[in-house]
Amino acid sequence: MEQYAIKGGNPLVGEVEIGGAKNASLPIIAASIMTDETVQVDNIPDVRDTNVLLDAMQGIGVLINRKDRHSVSINASQIHDFVVDGDNIRKIRASYYFIGALLAKYKSAVVALPGGCDIGCRAIDQHIKGFCALGADVKIEYGLIKAHAERLRGSHIYMDMVSVGATINIMMAAALAEGTTIIENAAKEPHVVDLANFLNSMGANIKGAGTDVIRIKGVHNLHGTEYAIIPDQIEAGTFMFAAAITKGDITVKNVIPKHLESITAKLLEIGCEIEESDDAVRVVAAKPLRHTQVKTLPYPGFPTDMQPQITVALALSTGTSIVTESIFENRFKYVDELIRMGASIKVEGNTAIVNGGAQYTGASINAPDLRAGAALVLAALAAEGYSIIEDIHYIQRGYEDFHLKLQMLGAQIEKVDSQRELQKFKLKIG
Ligand code: UD1
Repeated sequence: MEQYAIKGGNPLVGEVEIGGAKNASLPIIAASIMTDETVQVDNIPDVRDTNVLLDAMQGIGVLINRKDRHSVSINASQIHDFVVDGDNIRKIRASYYFIGALLAKYKSAVVALPGGCDIGCRAIDQHIKGFCALGADVKIEYGLIKAHAERLRGSHIYMDMVSVGATINIMMAAALAEGTTIIENAAKEPHVVDLANFLNSMGANIKGAGTDVIRIKGVHNLHGTEYAIIPDQIEAGTFMFAAAITKGDITVKNVIPKHLESITAKLLEIGCEIEESDDAVRVVAAKPLRHTQVKTLPYPGFPTDMQPQITVALALSTGTSIVTESIFENRFKYVDELIRMGASIKVEGNTAIVNGGAQYTGASINAPDLRAGAALVLAALAAEGYSIIEDIHYIQRGYEDFHLKLQMLGAQIEKVDSQRELQKFKLKIG
């Protein structure tokens, strides 16, 4: 099994190029099947989740032509099946985007119930509520979601909670429905806006994405397009916190600074210096980190996908911090691993009380999910001595070349998959 071997202690310094957003790529790749014409998508990150989705599309007859590592052309005119299932697709949450996309175009979809990271119960009632409001019959049988409609008709849908996935799924189904759909209490995440821009570039009529009311006038059909995915807000945020955690100086390049505002604000609060330009943000952590309070919220609030990374930083700060997780109920599982590395954290319900002042020491630890896995790597990079991170397949779901990008910043990290390789790494590093 592949692992990361890490020797901590080096401040990370330099520049890192941020790739395309995983969470925008997934719905955009799925939505590419909503036209018979060819769609080219650029700036897709080469990570496991996007590749699983593309493979699943090939399985139902979609022609996938990989132009290079980050560009793909997609033609769905030969789809022969509306059933998307398989061991890999069951493991990723975004499989459910095929429901919206297939339902929109073919009025029929059968898709494996989504998996994804184990960070708490991830209900799909709001997706189902939306599909039903548009006129679909939806049932769950044998681990599959089955959706079918004679016709899809626009509707006024009020979301009970802000859900990124449900907003996206309903937007896709409504794009080809008859009449107008209004989604109230919609998610405002940058990837919701990116999908709306993508669909509009195919001829859809979607207004208001990025606010909490989205209006979708259904159109008869969509056409081909060429579209580049936005930069990954969470990959960027992870490297920004890498600077804070390792007392480094990192410039994240090819980003949209506006999407990073809640992250930048917290870094400033805990004592980092920030320099922003049009498409780059530099984070310098020259002073000791200070404590703060943070609560995860839907965009533009502080992202839940950055919660483990900020907690790793706060455990090193002076004073006591409070981290409140308001999106997922089981997102502190990594804390036990962090305590083994020297952190002092007490979790009570959805709150972590973080007593600062930790000095991490290396340990052998498991990545419990994608973002926590990345955060634990950052802790290991700040730790004294060697660490081994197991289960890095979680991290590879969402970070392209994570260890290579960290190496470029001066990190002593290697991907190893045997005891021999591990010994070699230790001999090399000394
Ligand atoms: C997406 C992101 C994920 C991020 C999350 C919140 C992708 C592939 N994943 O996940 O990285 O952490 O947004 O920013 O883009 N909920 C319901 N019923 C529903 C739908 C959601 O109760 O029908 C609840 C969920 O259990 C969760 C909350 O709403 O507690 C937010 O979920 P949602 O925004 O839907 O997250 P995802 O789209 O799954």
